[in-house]
Amino acid sequence: MAHRITVIGAGTMGLGIAQVTAIHGIQTVLCDLSPEQLTTACRQIEASVEKGIEKGKNPVEARDLLKSCLSTSTEVAEACQGSDFIIEAVPEVMQIKTKIFEEVEQVISEHAILATNTSSLPITKLSSGLTHPQRFVGMHFFNPVPIMALVEVVRGDQSSEATIDAAVELATKLGKEPIVVKDSPGFATSRLGLVLGLEAIRMLETGVASAQEIDKAMELGYRHPMGPLRLTDLVGLDVRLAIAEYLHSMIGEQFRPPELLRQLVSEGHLGKKTGRGFHDWS
Ligand code: CAA
Repeated sequence: MAHRITVIGAGTMGLGIAQVTAIHGIQTVLCDLSPEQLTTACRQIEASVEKGIEKGKNPVEARDLLKSCLSTSTEVAEACQGSDFIIEAVPEVMQIKTKIFEEVEQVISEHAILATNTSSLPITKLSSGLTHPQRFVGMHFFNPVPIMALVEVVRGDQSSEATIDAAVELATKLGKEPIVVKDSPGFATSRLGLVLGLEAIRMLETGVASAQEIDKAMELGYRHPMGPLRLTDLVGLDVRLAIAEYLHSMIGEQFRPPELLRQLVSEGHLGKKTGRGFHDWS
């Protein structure tokens, strides 16, 4: 079982993962090159833990566990020292991730497991430059991490059974429901989720209905907790665009990114995190 975890990348997913590991009593180092990002992340984590306590979802001890178990670092090598589980949650760009894995592999211990939170990139390809690809696995969390129950554990061609078991065990310890899936583009979740999200954007482009109405259609008509456009705002338009581009290249036309999505991303409207996407979040 993991005693010390390093989470690399203090964006939405990384900070959510670090929150959950720390409040489960696992020593957690949240690592990001930007000290400002780490400060913002810690503030968000504290607020979320307080909200969880207020809602009766976190025990009051979560506040103390967070204080004693969460630390931060701007140095990958320092952050990974002594960790037995490293979870990477940096942007969905193959080169950024593989560069970090190379760096991490040089400093981690013999038994440490390296996991990626990628939502679509191939696990086998991500691990192709590693010396120990058998200790590499996908651990795909969902946003908001403290609330969402699923962890998709993705088996690379060379992931060992012991590595898969360790990822499943960690997810379970964190109170999540793991599923183990094959390394296939978009895995079991992003591939299906994207179909709905992209089609909703095309419907908006062609004037079928407004963003509010399209979302309401799925919220009330299909009982989705959140409509596909609001969900795209929550996930991040840049994140969804990157996944769509990859799935378009791997699977086909149904994943071609709509022009409106490209336009909003190029204008810096990335959804909730920037205050505007398909909806106004300001
Ligand atoms: N800590 C712990 N629990 C919390 C919490 C916190 N900080 N804040 C809220 N909660 C709990 C609440 O108590 C509540 O629990 P119950 O349902 O048992 O009452 C639940 O979480 C929902 O909280 P709220 O009532 O505050 O919020 P809401 O009802 O408006 O729901 C939502 C918000 C959970 C985001 C909901 O709209 C939802 O499920 N949306 C869909 C999210 C989704 O699909 N995410 C996946 C995105 S794809 C992805 O992430 C992968 C990728 O690769 C990009």
